[in-house]
This record gives sequence, C-alpha cells and structure tokens, in this order.
Amino acid sequence: MGIALIILGAGKGTRMHSDLPKVLHPIAGAPMLVHAIRAGASLEPARCVIVAGHGAEAVTKAAEDYEPAAQIALQSEQLGTAHAVAQARDLLKEHEGDALVLYGDTPFIQPETLERMVAARAVHDLVVLGFHAADPGRYGRLVMAGDTLERIVEFKDATEAERAIDFCNSGVIACDSATLFDLIDAVGNDNAAGEYYLTDIIAIARARGLSATAVACDEAETLGVNSRAELAQAETLFQARARTQAMENGVTLLAPETVFFAFDTAIGRDSLIEQNVVFGPGATVESGAHIRAFSHLEGCHVSRGAIVGPYARLRPGAELAEYVRIGNFVEIKNAVLEAGAKVNHLSYIGDATVGADANIGAGTVTCNYDGVMKHHTTIGARAFIGSDTMLIAPVNVGDDAMTGSGSVITRDVPDGALAIARPEQVTKPGMARKLFDILKKKKAKQAKGAE
Ligand code: UD1
Ligand code: MG
Repeated sequence: MGIALIILGAGKGTRMHSDLPKVLHPIAGAPMLVHAIRAGASLEPARCVIVAGHGAEAVTKAAEDYEPAAQIALQSEQLGTAHAVAQARDLLKEHEGDALVLYGDTPFIQPETLERMVAARAVHDLVVLGFHAADPGRYGRLVMAGDTLERIVEFKDATEAERAIDFCNSGVIACDSATLFDLIDAVGNDNAAGEYYLTDIIAIARARGLSATAVACDEAETLGVNSRAELAQAETLFQARARTQAMENGVTLLAPETVFFAFDTAIGRDSLIEQNVVFGPGATVESGAHIRAFSHLEGCHVSRGAIVGPYARLRPGAELAEYVRIGNFVEIKNAVLEAGAKVNHLSYIGDATVGADANIGAGTVTCNYDGVMKHHTTIGARAFIGSDTMLIAPVNVGDDAMTGSGSVITRDVPDGALAIARPEQVTKPGMARKLFDILKKKKAKQAKGAE
C-alpha cells in the first residue's frame, strides 16, 4: 500500500538552450526535480519512480544524491505524457495502492494541495489538480460537469468554446496504480500533436463508468519552468516564500529581500539575519544565533548564541557550538569549534578542532593542505593562538597553550606551553636614520640625472 510517485522528467527542455537536462537546473541550490520529489515526499510515498530520457545518466545521479530510494524508468523516445507514465509500469508491477503523477519541471506544488487530492481520492477514482489561469494560454482545459471532470482537452485539439474555459490542467493526477496503467493502455495518438496524451485517460475512465474530479490550487503552485526567464521567476518565487516562512517561524530578517535561502535552510526562532546573507545547501542555524551582514553559509551548523560575520564564510563541515564568535573575513571549513571559541579576524580554519573558549588571533591559518593530502589541526581548550600563526598540519596545540604572533608551528605544543617559532629580532641602533639618508640621496641623484 501507500502511494507511488511517478515524476515525469524526460523532456529535453529545448527552450532552456542548455546541455543540462531541464529538470536538473537548480532552484535554491537543488535541481528542480528535487523540489518535485520533496513535495511528493510529504505524502510519505512507498515508491518514487522518475521517468528520465534526455540526460538520463545525470538525472539518475541527481536522484541518487537526493533520494536514494528513487528508481529511474527510461523513456528513450518522448512520445507523450501517457507514454512517459507507461515507462514506470514494470517498476510498479507489484505496487498496490495509488500512483501520483507529478512533473519534474513543476517545483512548487504544496504538500497541503497533494493532501487535498488524496482526500478527494477517497471519493473519486481519478483526481486531477487544476487551477484557474489568468492567461490559460496553451494549457489543457478541464471540462467539468458540476463536480465531475468529464475530460481534458489539449489546447491544440480544443474548440473555440473549450479554449474559453479558464480551468486548466496542472498535469498532477492521482489514481489507483493498476487502474492508471489499464487506462493508459487504451490511449492512442490520433490527435493534433500525434502524442500519447496522459490527459486522455479521463474520458476513457468516464466511458468505463469511473468517477473523476478536479481539485483546484493557486496558479503560482503550478508554475512550470521552460526557459531561463521562468527559472529566474521560479527562484524569485521560492525566495519570497522562504523569507515569509522564516519570518513566520520567528526569525528576524533586517532586509528580507537581500537574504537568499537554499531549499533546505533551517533557522531557529529568535535568530537575527542581517542584510545580504546567502545560504547555500545544508545550513542549519539554531535559535538565537546572529548572522551578520554579507556572510555566506553552506553545509554548516551554527548553534544558539553564536555570532557570525559580518563578511564571514562558513563552508561544509563547519560546526559552531554555542556562543562561538566568527568575525570578519574568516573562512571555516570542516572544523568543529567548541563553545565560546573565537576567531574574529582574517583567518582560515580548515580541517580542525578548536577547543572551548580558545582565542584564535587575527590572520591565523591552519595550513591543512600539502598539495596532495589534507591534514588535521587540533587546538585545545582555552588556547591562545597569536596573530598570524601558521599551523602546519598535522599539528596539535594543547589546552591552555599559547603560540607567539607570527609563529610557524610545525611541531605539537603541549598543554600549557608557549611556543614561539619565528626568527629572533635584531635591533641596530641608528641604522634606520642612516638608511633613510642613503636612500634620499640616491633619489635626489636620480632626479637630477633625469633633468
Ligand atoms: C501538459 C498537459 C497539459 C497541461 C500542461 C501543464 C498532456 C498531454 N498535456 O502539456 O494538459 O496543461 O502539461 O503544464 O499531458 N514528458 C516526458 N515524456 C514525454 C513528454 C513529456 O517525460 O514524452 C514530461 C516533460 O518533461 C514535462 C511533462 O512531462 O515534465 C509535461 O510535458 P510537456 O511536454 O511540457 O506537456 P505540455 O504540452 O506542457
Ligand atoms: Mg509543459
């Protein structure tokens, strides 16, 4: 039992003018296909089949990355939406329960809308998702008789009277899985496009005495992406929703229109996000954190009470415990910073562990890469790393240890020790004045020669 998702994504997307299959173009950091998968995931589907054609290999890889349970059905020739769904038949042979058809290029269908379709399925054999279009254009039209959906007519095949209908087909259909494949068997391609239309199954079902209805949703949910301009519109729409959602969840955004979220950004209540902050995929920010202006965060976790930025960059694997402080022009990658640690200025901390309340001075660099391999740096609790320390990994600095400013640390520093690794200072009395005199004379001589 349960629902099987069938997500159509074999189309080429000619108008994208791209080598990338259309459904892999990203919105908020994830392929649009993934947005469709996530919408369907709210129904806790038992199965998820993606119909791929153009760029099937890349589509398979993306599906594996985001939804390991997804299976790919190959449609090598694009003969129409019914033909596309038919390719899922073998994978769903054993499936008992409903199938829900979604499009991989329609990323905004809301979970709540799908739930309404499931509810309508309790009453009707087939449920189609429709919308009232401001400009019905070339959409398929839903021909209703009261609550009953009698048939769907494609624009190309519609009469003038049918074209006047503004209730349009989104493409989303729910139906018992075995029934769906039975109905598809009866679909032909004798129409204006010479394609096997999935939409034909409604009239076929009605002729067999099955019932069909349409559930309506907001037109914005059915926004499909066919061009770069529509991709940009989709991004804008996603961001607008994400900002509203964040604020409704109790997050303060000082300038909402300048904050950009990824598809999976999670931010706790009472956090404050300043202007021009960008979230890449995989960022979580706990309650009460403060992200200051012009920071970029991805694949990271920021705990309660931490302050990040302005101008900070948190890369994948950056784990900030409570009350950590990351300041301006600091980059953190694959590093755990324990509670209260501070890295306030101009530093790179990568492949490292930084103990609680450690203080990392300005310009410190964990030299983690030897040109071939990455190495780890461990800095103990309450350690004080002097400004401009180069930590040549692998290296450990102990708890309560110190390094002198400008040190190049190549060997471990025990707990409580001070390590200074820089040339001794040489001071020559009067020498600076003499040097200035020599240089000034030289300059004067050169100026005279040039006359
Ligand atoms: C389809 C509907 C139309 C609806 C519109 C909504 C049919 C016949 N028509 O028309 O009623 O109003 O969507 O956007 O279903 N695809 C495949 N293999 C194929 C053909 C299509 O995987 O052989 C996929 C496409 O990649 C796309 C989706 O199915 O994701 C829809 O196909 P598209 O060609 O865009 O259908 P429309 O003509 O827009
Ligand atoms: Mg289309």
